[in-house]
Amino acid sequence: MKSNNFPIGIFDSGVGGTSIWKEISTLLPNEHTIYLSDSKNAPYGIKSKQEIIDLSIKNTNFLINQNCKLIVVACNTATTNAIQLLRTKYQIPFIGIEPAIKPAALKTKTNTIGILATKGTLTSELFAKTSNTLHKGIIIKETIGEGLVELIEAGKIASEEMHNLLSSYLEPMTNEGIDCLVLGCTHYPYLIPKIKEIIGDKIEIIDSGLAVAKQTKHILTTHQLLNHKDNSGNHQFYINKNKNVLTSLVASNLNVKISERNF
Ligand code: DGL
Repeated sequence: MKSNNFPIGIFDSGVGGTSIWKEISTLLPNEHTIYLSDSKNAPYGIKSKQEIIDLSIKNTNFLINQNCKLIVVACNTATTNAIQLLRTKYQIPFIGIEPAIKPAALKTKTNTIGILATKGTLTSELFAKTSNTLHKGIIIKETIGEGLVELIEAGKIASEEMHNLLSSYLEPMTNEGIDCLVLGCTHYPYLIPKIKEIIGDKIEIIDSGLAVAKQTKHILTTHQLLNHKDNSGNHQFYINKNKNVLTSLVASNLNVKISERNF
């Protein structure tokens, strides 16, 4: 039996899932969280399905050992490759994140949407299944954001190198007339200012962060696991590499504690 005061566990291949943690801690301010940044093994997006599954199991075991009451897989690559297996292997509820191509398909006027994601996500069966449910007239321009996660993990979000790499991925999609751009990786919301510099304001950027936070609240409610205490939650971050980049992304929250640890 899980206690309501136990933490929500969140994991990602690195620091990107903090974009989801921010949405969750804003929507559910009295929940405690434990975030696992597997930066030593990033990027997941170029690994095989089996490697992604093995790393997801390792991360889940760590969070379950810390008494987490629910786990958010704050990584599109791990969700699309491993969440089905995690749900059969463990009793605990899992929330995943998938690229928001369905909302984009409902919004597009040009019937052409772009998606920027990792190779692991775009080649997954789950992504293919979701794409196949879309109306036949919708054209999806898929682009692998190779190298973007590495630059973010290295703290080079605002660098010229990032600008050039992003331009090389975004310009072909804009030339093909996309009017919605789906961010299919939890690292990419940190690139929104740079993306806007390149594509302007006319293309709508869509990501799933808030939807994941709302789904987390919904599942905690239906499982009667919401924390009803009035005090603000504590947030413990574990990272298996240098913590500087992670610190720069989350330390403005006063209840954050960041520890470097081998796992
Ligand atoms: N944040 C992960 C995702 O959403 C990055 C994947 C990677 O490490 O390549 O897919």
